[in-house]
Amino acid sequence: MEQFRKRCRAFFDTLWPAEEKTLVFGEGRADHPPIMLIGEAPGEQETLQGRPFVGKAGKNLDAFLEVVGLRREDIYISNVVKVRPTKVSPKGSVSNRPPNREELALFTPYLYEEILLVQPKMIVTLGNVALKALLGKEAVIGDHHGQVTRAQVQGQSFAVFPLYHPASIIYNRSLTETYQQDLQKLKTVI
Ligand code: URA
Repeated sequence: MEQFRKRCRAFFDTLWPAEEKTLVFGEGRADHPPIMLIGEAPGEQETLQGRPFVGKAGKNLDAFLEVVGLRREDIYISNVVKVRPTKVSPKGSVSNRPPNREELALFTPYLYEEILLVQPKMIVTLGNVALKALLGKEAVIGDHHGQVTRAQVQGQSFAVFPLYHPASIIYNRSLTETYQQDLQKLKTVI
């Protein structure tokens, strides 16, 4: 894993030499964990702390862990894109944006490598970005959430359980219910 990180860091340092982009790597149990959770990309807090799913996203993660009955250290937590994608408003304020095509193309091979290293029993994707990284561009979360499907990662087959991204369901009551039902299903399949 350390070598993987070194190589990844070296690649992005060469690619973006002028920009100081903090890479936020995965953390947790990296040897055959029951779950590898894959989000979209780090946000502000994650970049400041150098850890995935902290701050507000960390609270969502705690709720997730409580339902499935696991501790943070029992699972491996990562993101498709390892830098924070940002946009700057005309007034100069910086905010998150979804990863663009170039970022996805650059980071997806590293995600595959990470999955092959970690060898999770189940991959749980949060939202469309992580789902598409594994199942292809045509896959949509509405069709796949809450059921085990399989993904080929460089010829190796992995079980995948897609979930809506908790950040996307906050203002949608029916999706919140669906998300909770999906979590209950996940509990029965892990
Ligand atoms: N924080 C993360 O690390 N990933 C997400 O997808 C959202 C918030």
